[in-house]
Amino acid sequence: MDVQSSKVVAIGTNPDTGYDSFRLGQFTFRRDEYFAHIEWPKGSHIIEIDRFLRAMVRDIGWGFFYGWIFFDDIFGTTNHYGTVDVFAGAYDQGCKDQGIDHLETFPAEVVKDAFETISRNWINEGYDPLSAPLETGSPLGSKTRERTDPLVRGFQSATRMLGLEGDAPVRSDATGHPINRAFADLEFDKPDIECEPGFEGQLHAINLFDHIARADVTWNPSFTAITGASICCVTSEEHMLPVIHGNDRNEWFIQLTDEIHWQIADKNSGLPRGRIVMKAGDVCAMPADIRHQGFSPKRSMLMVMENGTPGLELRYASGELKPYPVDFG
Ligand SMILES: [Fe+2]
Repeated sequence: MDVQSSKVVAIGTNPDTGYDSFRLGQFTFRRDEYFAHIEWPKGSHIIEIDRFLRAMVRDIGWGFFYGWIFFDDIFGTTNHYGTVDVFAGAYDQGCKDQGIDHLETFPAEVVKDAFETISRNWINEGYDPLSAPLETGSPLGSKTRERTDPLVRGFQSATRMLGLEGDAPVRSDATGHPINRAFADLEFDKPDIECEPGFEGQLHAINLFDHIARADVTWNPSFTAITGASICCVTSEEHMLPVIHGNDRNEWFIQLTDEIHWQIADKNSGLPRGRIVMKAGDVCAMPADIRHQGFSPKRSMLMVMENGTPGLELRYASGELKPYPVDFG
């Protein structure tokens, strides 16, 4: 695998809109009032700008996540945990048949820097691509003023179990985030805690819904618990997952409230594999050989479990492990 190490460069400013254009390897990126335009030696592609920016900031924030992040059916990234592929049409049967697909591999830091540079230049004040579309401004139009605050919410580590003295600043009710409008009808009872004498101040419990209901981002881990390689994220979801995620391992979903509609396709060809509607209480495992995209008509709560064991992706890719977690019967 050739790793291309040249960094992103600005290659001029669009005089009509004020946005800069960029080159990363053999890809070029240009935006106008409505669209992102991507070109490579044998082809080109166009993506609606809201979708492009919502995908790009999540790809940065997730650290390229597990496996494939498709911004749409054509353009995206693949995480090799140290290096990252940037591809166009490489997992689209039509593009491959026509020979216009393209893929380049870069150090992860180079892609992160490129995506941050592009996002910073193309995002104006008043638009937050991590917010639900109904809760932020529009990304359309010419360049106004760049945002100066962080584009991506950074992770803050809890110093203690949430709710125990000294856990701040991560407790969301302590940071002043209000309950989201969609969860105003929920009751947020506090758990009863009966502690054996001598253990006061060491045992605690929280109402997790009270925390998720205050998340100000969508399709982005709001609270994460990591034990060894076991990763548990809870998130609030509204509108559509702005990327199509291609798994390199199983991924477990537990729908906590409301419902999400998932479209599932073959990872390599994009051919449809299924549609499921998950309602509160439903559990499913996304197999390691699919791509999936979720649609949440109303803000909902989702718990996602990942196995972060290094090298697991190679064991699935080689066929050593079946792409699904359980054999029934
Ligand atoms: Fe996923």
